[in-house]
Amino acid sequence: MTIVALSGSLRAKSFNTMLLHAAAEVAPLDVATIAGIPLYDGDVEAAGMPAPVAALKDRIAAAKGLLLVTPEYNGSLPGVFKNAIDWLSRPSTDIRRVFGGLAVGVIGATPGPGGTALSQAAWMLVLRRLDTIPFFGASLQVSSAGKVFDDGGALVDAEVKGRLGKYMHAFLAFVDRHGR
Ligand code: FNR
Repeated sequence: MTIVALSGSLRAKSFNTMLLHAAAEVAPLDVATIAGIPLYDGDVEAAGMPAPVAALKDRIAAAKGLLLVTPEYNGSLPGVFKNAIDWLSRPSTDIRRVFGGLAVGVIGATPGPGGTALSQAAWMLVLRRLDTIPFFGASLQVSSAGKVFDDGGALVDAEVKGRLGKYMHAFLAFVDRHGR
């Protein structure tokens, strides 16, 4: 059972990438990246699918689940992450192959107090449009991220570790039962 996992941040010291790696320590995730995906441009698409997009599409198409680890920007989802998902949804005739019936979990981290709740909610509209099966059985919103990871990027907060473990356990069972 393959679950592709993506962080929605490109920066080297991203809290969301740290959370992704902590998740991969407690669950067998196929850690992928949105790095290298260009800005969406219909003219570029018409000239041929960029190789990083085509490769990530195939990787997700072969998976049963997808975990999005998302930052929150201005009370919604980050453009850089949405841009990647938009590329993956092209051409639209491929949406069923790539996303149809895919079990999708969304988690996220922020140094602020809101835990990325607004970003996670915003993702649900996109996931519905793409014909995925969103996971609602648990949620993981990490606030005050500057205090829960150490300088090396390791998750060191016991309470958050416990919540992450419970989330991943429930998500894995969901993917197994409901993913395509
Ligand atoms: C933010 N940040 C932010 N945080 C939050 O909790 N709610 C928000 O609405 C916003 N808005 C926002 C807008 C923009 C343009 C930026 C660049 C940042 C802060 C954000 O959570 C913080 O930069 C995180 O560290 C981003 O995630 P990574 O890169 O650490 O994974």
